[in-house]
This record gives sequence, C-alpha cells and structure tokens, in this order.
Amino acid sequence: MTEPALLDIQGLHTVYGKKIHALKGVSAQVRSGEIVCIIGNNGAGKTTLLKTVSGVLQPDKGAVRFAGEAITGQPTHRIARMGLAHVPEGRHVFPRLSVAENLEMGAYFRTERDLSKDYDHVFELFPVLGRRKAQLAGTLSGGEQQMLAMGRALMARPRLLMLDEPSMGLAPVVVDTIFDIIRRINKEGVTVLLVEQNAKRALQASSRGYVLETGEIVLEDKAETLCSDAKVRKAYLGLQ
Ligand SMILES: Nc1ncnc2c1ncn2[C@@H]1O[C@H](COP(=O)(O)OP(=O)(O)O)[C@@H](O)[C@H]1O
Ligand SMILES: [Mg+2]
Repeated sequence: MTEPALLDIQGLHTVYGKKIHALKGVSAQVRSGEIVCIIGNNGAGKTTLLKTVSGVLQPDKGAVRFAGEAITGQPTHRIARMGLAHVPEGRHVFPRLSVAENLEMGAYFRTERDLSKDYDHVFELFPVLGRRKAQLAGTLSGGEQQMLAMGRALMARPRLLMLDEPSMGLAPVVVDTIFDIIRRINKEGVTVLLVEQNAKRALQASSRGYVLETGEIVLEDKAETLCSDAKVRKAYLGLQ
C-alpha cells in the first residue's frame, strides 16, 4: 500500500465575494519528504490556494486533508497546531517586535517551554538573525525579514512548511541563500510546498511541480520534466 499524501487537496473552489472564482477545482498532493512547487503568474491563484489550505479562507467546495485528517473549515490555529506552517506572501513579521520576540511568537503553540534548541537551530540556519536578536524586525532588510518569517515558522517544528513567494523582491544572491536553506530544511525532515512566480528557481529546488493558470492546474509532473516541457519553457522560463 502506498502511503497517503501528507497534504491532499481535492477539487478546491474558492470564491471572493460572489463573482471572483479564484480557484476552480484545484487538486494537488504533497507526500512526506518532498519539495513540491506550484508555479503560476501573478493572479493565478497561488496565494488563494495556500490561504485556503491554512484556513485563512474558506473554500466553497472541495476538501483538504493533512496527515490523514480533514482540515477543511477548521480554524487556522488548529491547523497550525497540527504541524502545518504558512509563511505568507510579504512575510508579515511583527515590525515592532525584536527578532527574538518574533521567533518566540512562532513557538506560541508549543507546550514545552525550553526553546533554546530551537533558537540555536534557527540561528545556525540564519546566522544573521543570531547577530540581530535584539533588532526590531521592521528595520531588517527584505531578505532578512524573509529569513525571520521562515525561522518563526520553524519554531513551531512543522511537518509541512508552505512558502508563498519566498524570492519576491529579493536580490539574486539573497534568493540563492533562501533556496539553499529551503533545501537544507527539507533534508532535515520538513516537507515543503512552495508557490512562486519565479518558476526557474522553484523548479530547480523541487522534485515535483504543478502549473496553475487562472485557478486551474493545467500541468503537473516531475520538476525536470516540466523544465523541458515546451509550454513551460516558453511561458514560464522565458526560453525557446
Ligand atoms: N481579497 C480579494 N478580493 C477579491 N479578489 C481577490 C482577493 N485576493 C485575490 N483576489 C483575486 O483572486 C485571483 C487570484 O489571486 P491570488 O491568489 O492573489 O493570485 P497569485 O497569488 O497567484 O498572484 C486574482 O484574480 C485576484 O485578483
Ligand atoms: Mg500571490
């Protein structure tokens, strides 16, 4: 018997108001240990999908299962507590709290209070955060805020980390660092679902990928197969 997917999204429809049908029956799976990406242009529905999975938005139809349990309609805090972490688009760190306080907020749901190992782990992954523990998060650079948002998510010791456009607005060298760390986090046992407009980087980091266009999955395959797909090359990688 094959192991059921860690995250199983089935036929998800999400509508804003009455008219804006942002997701039109999206199905996707992430198995334990994978890095999976969803690529798509601005407005394709990537953020809507992650928000619907994490319980920020309610779907009109469809179902999401996480670790074998139906999570559709459950409140965000319960979903987070089950081990599903969501790093939102635009990072949303707490600007008036320090780096250390932001990290502490990430461990809010943890029952054990000794977080020293978790801080050590985050500071090892992101040494710059260790050097800036006391600095207010709002004064960090964009790349440092992305690192902090990821570090904060890791403080909850998630099984699945969902990242919404981690590379957005960052210089290429910083994007390299972020993607190196995504791979490292994955090697340490955290499953990753990544959504990105930056298709090249996302596909390079992933084992499988989906292409989302105006609320529908139009292609899914191994990342390397998608990289050689004529349509993906032309529309998403800017190649012939
Ligand atoms: N709060 C909202 N109210 C109404 N429409 C929205 C809202 N957020 C997103 N949309 C629309 O839903 C569609 C998908 O948006 P989004 O999920 O943000 O796409 P992506 O993250 O791929 O850029 C777009 O047409 C967008 O304009
Ligand atoms: Mg988005």
